Amino acid sequence: MPSLPNVHVTTDAITDLAVDALIVPVFRGAIEGPGTDTALRALGLSEVPRDASFRGKPGEVLQLAAPGQPWGRVILVGLGRLDELTTAMVRRAMGAAIRSVTTSAATVATTLPLVETSVASIQAAAEGALLGAYRYDDGRSAPDPVKLTDVTLVVPSSLAEAAAAAVLRATLHARAQCVARDLVAMPPNRLGPEEVAAYAVDHLGDDIEVEVWDEDRLRAERCGGLLAVAGGSARPPRLVRLRYRPPAPVASVALVGKGITFDSGGISLKRPSSAMDAMKGDMGGVAAVIGVFSVLTELGINVEVSAELCLAENLPSGSATRPSDVVTYRDGTTVEVLNTDAEGRLVLADGLLLAAESDVDAIVDVATLTGAVSAAIGRHAVGVFANDDDLLRQLLSAGEDAGEPSWHLPLWEELSEGLESDVADLRNIGDKDMGAGASVGGLFLRHFVDGTPWAHLDIAGASWRDKDRDHLSKQGTGVPVRTLLRWLEQAG
Ligand code: BES
Ligand code: MN
Ligand code: ZN
Repeated sequence: MPSLPNVHVTTDAITDLAVDALIVPVFRGAIEGPGTDTALRALGLSEVPRDASFRGKPGEVLQLAAPGQPWGRVILVGLGRLDELTTAMVRRAMGAAIRSVTTSAATVATTLPLVETSVASIQAAAEGALLGAYRYDDGRSAPDPVKLTDVTLVVPSSLAEAAAAAVLRATLHARAQCVARDLVAMPPNRLGPEEVAAYAVDHLGDDIEVEVWDEDRLRAERCGGLLAVAGGSARPPRLVRLRYRPPAPVASVALVGKGITFDSGGISLKRPSSAMDAMKGDMGGVAAVIGVFSVLTELGINVEVSAELCLAENLPSGSATRPSDVVTYRDGTTVEVLNTDAEGRLVLADGLLLAAESDVDAIVDVATLTGAVSAAIGRHAVGVFANDDDLLRQLLSAGEDAGEPSWHLPLWEELSEGLESDVADLRNIGDKDMGAGASVGGLFLRHFVDGTPWAHLDIAGASWRDKDRDHLSKQGTGVPVRTLLRWLEQAG
């Protein structure tokens, strides 16, 4: 993983801070935020410079030279309307401003946390800085030079003590999210099921129990979904089982991740015109779970957390699963595969069955499951399905706190009929006339949790971006790592 900058806090006046760039907030309508007046007056400006490209809209950035000042440059960043300010906006604006200086400034200071007097605002500013500074460059022979090493947050003196803990939490959360981003960005020729398993062993092995099931074990354990989906690939599937055991846990939960290292659709091949390259990101669920596990010990999470990572590559070939094949699972359930592109639910069923057998208090699966979720709620948001209201509320609230938009979607009973098969217990796609593809996917998964409190996070939209925006980078965004971490912190 690329090294992220160090984040410090100070209560010093900005006139005492010598840095390459000073970032100050501006609200819509050119309203100056904390410190902005001081910075602009020092530059000899009586107000925010009027510029057609800078009005203080969310994430807008304007750089001003600062000759003769302790700051090499002053950077104005937009936070939108003052009366609509949220902590999430602090994170977004910080990400956008930092992104604009990562290759040109080594040291940065900012008054952004002062727009709200809260620990949440300090944590959000630190997260925004770290996430905005991230770039994936393992694939280049000569990576872009990143200059940024240090970010100093100016915080209210009343919160100076609490700030250190907030910055530490932010650093761990952001690092975990960048682990997930790196895994998604890695090209699928270098990162198949075996390589993901090796990554988990190498990077988590010290604090976390890691068990890898190979093909023989998967056959012995009757993990029919993984074996069926991997059938067309030269690469064998893997199930990786993780376990974090704190000394005195107050609860136990299981995470289940979809880990399709490349999804071509299989024999039900995706249309070549669809952006198939993005399907290297079809292991975004597994990437998020590995990110979460990478920081559980350091965060001191007080919940026992296990995970089932369902890893396979979905390709067409002479040994591939055919539309109309029937798969048998370890509990005896049979599934008719009518579309080999609905493969995520097939592999997740293996993981959900195992998680349900382990008698946990709750199961949460994380999956790039359907294009339909983006059609329903947009590409920026996580679709949340659940069979348990408490768990649903906990996850929605954690998503809100993390600034990772998430939205409750229904599991209409009426749609279950669409999953009835002529020859097996279930089929893997619904009735096209009924629509609601994301809900149908959720209903299919629900069959395998055997009544355990369960939630399904469909991250097909939110885990991938084509363009950088605010604190979120293009390619893998690393969503919903911070939602899961906040949920675990609150549960413990
Ligand atoms: N991996 C895809 C879902 C996806 C789509 C993720 C776009 C990210 C961006 C999944 O395996 C898939 O192909 N789903 C099908 C389901 C359908 C065949 C029932 C879909 O969404 O079209
Ligand atoms: Mn698919
Ligand atoms: Zn898929």
